[in-house]
Amino acid sequence: MAAAGSYSIQPTSGIGNQLQSKSLPEVALSSKSLSFSSQLHTFSVKSLRATGQLHLQGVSALVRAEIDSDTMQVDLSLSPRVNSVKPSKTVAITDQATALAQAGVPVIRLAAGEPDFDTPAAIAEAGINAIREGFTRYTPNAGTLELRKAICHKLKEENGISYTPDQILVSNGAKQSIVQAVLAVCSPGDEVIIPAPFWVSYPEMARLADATPVILPTRISENFLLDPKVLESTLTEKSRLLILCSPSNPTGSVYPRKLLEQIAEIVAKHPRLLVMSDEIYEHIIYAPATHTSFASLPGMWDRTLTVNGFSKAFAMTGWRLGYIAGPKHFVAACGKIQSQTTSGASSISQKAGVAALGMGYAGGEAVAVMVKAFRERRDFLVKSFGELDGVKISEPQGAFYLFLDFSSYYGSKADSFGVIDGSESLCRYLLDKAQVALVPGDAFGDDTCIRISYAESLTTLQAAVERIKGALVALKSAVTI
Ligand SMILES: Cc1ncc(COP(=O)(O)O)c(C=O)c1O
Repeated sequence: MAAAGSYSIQPTSGIGNQLQSKSLPEVALSSKSLSFSSQLHTFSVKSLRATGQLHLQGVSALVRAEIDSDTMQVDLSLSPRVNSVKPSKTVAITDQATALAQAGVPVIRLAAGEPDFDTPAAIAEAGINAIREGFTRYTPNAGTLELRKAICHKLKEENGISYTPDQILVSNGAKQSIVQAVLAVCSPGDEVIIPAPFWVSYPEMARLADATPVILPTRISENFLLDPKVLESTLTEKSRLLILCSPSNPTGSVYPRKLLEQIAEIVAKHPRLLVMSDEIYEHIIYAPATHTSFASLPGMWDRTLTVNGFSKAFAMTGWRLGYIAGPKHFVAACGKIQSQTTSGASSISQKAGVAALGMGYAGGEAVAVMVKAFRERRDFLVKSFGELDGVKISEPQGAFYLFLDFSSYYGSKADSFGVIDGSESLCRYLLDKAQVALVPGDAFGDDTCIRISYAESLTTLQAAVERIKGALVALKSAVTI
């Protein structure tokens, strides 16, 4: 940033233009843009091609720009909205691990939230048939009536909630369902209440809507479940949306019905407050835990937006299919956003979705087989890490993640690595030394933990545990500072 006054600024390399200005309070110049700090104006160098007089809210300046390069630079400035959003760490780690694997490093990737199973054959066949039969055109924005009816039937039978097809909006994945709902119901300055640890996207979606994420911490000793008293003391007239996720990504916690009832009682006292219940892991649940849909609780239907999808239980991540169910007023608002952005979900995926819902209660045998495998893996990991000193565990009751507290290792130092000062450096250390990719807990709002996705075969998990244990033992035996 240059000081106020008159300048002659020699820009950074590659452009070769000369700029002079008079009487401007402050001018900053990068290779891409000129910005005048007293205003919100940012000029691309392209716009300063000519010599001339520049007028800026009463301040005028002589600007001479001589461009001797044929290549014009593009203004790379971004909207403040996107600048306020953090990139997804899960995606970043997954990409890093994939790059290492492609370079020949034998990395075990336990970072992604994606089942390792193939989409069940009956579902895949329905998609293939849709293509063969030419079911390849735009569908209604809200989704085919066939799929929305099937969703209504599922929600009634499995979740005890009644909806009509005009109260369902099918989208390109539950992620889209969630962001649209946040955009549809939040006004600038509204608060979105998010218990931590949270799915990485919730706070960023709130920011995209110009709302303020309000994070409510939970404790591993309480299985990462929200304390209703904490919720009660947080709510104000600005609180617009409470986001619940059960079974939870990243902790695998499942909210018992009794706790949801207590939360519902508090919610009922706040007329402005809506609840988004993200139930995408509903079927991946380990008995005796059971799933309760928040909208099924007395008085909650009118203010609950139920989100669900096909990615997790049906191993359909790439099909991009999810949905939201709720009062027509809100669902129609979400549909308005969708109609002006992506339009309806893939016609092929929707046919596959109908087949998925036709596989029987809770996905039938095909889903039960996957859930059984997830359970075995969970049991193995809980036992294995339970044997390790200084690791705290809350046994997951659903989903396919383990959120382990490794904070007792923080402060350790490893040869040629440096100090482990939090979840991010521990994950970097484990990627470097054990060649296992995990996600740091700080991405989920809890730096004491790291997340292990056990959507991998038992053999792979056994190898991963050996490597992690080896690296941690080496760390413990290093100098503790
Ligand atoms: C808690 C949670 N909600 C929603 C989603 C979005 O799922 P999709 O967009 O694949 O349907 C995910 C995916 O990781 C998730 O973990």
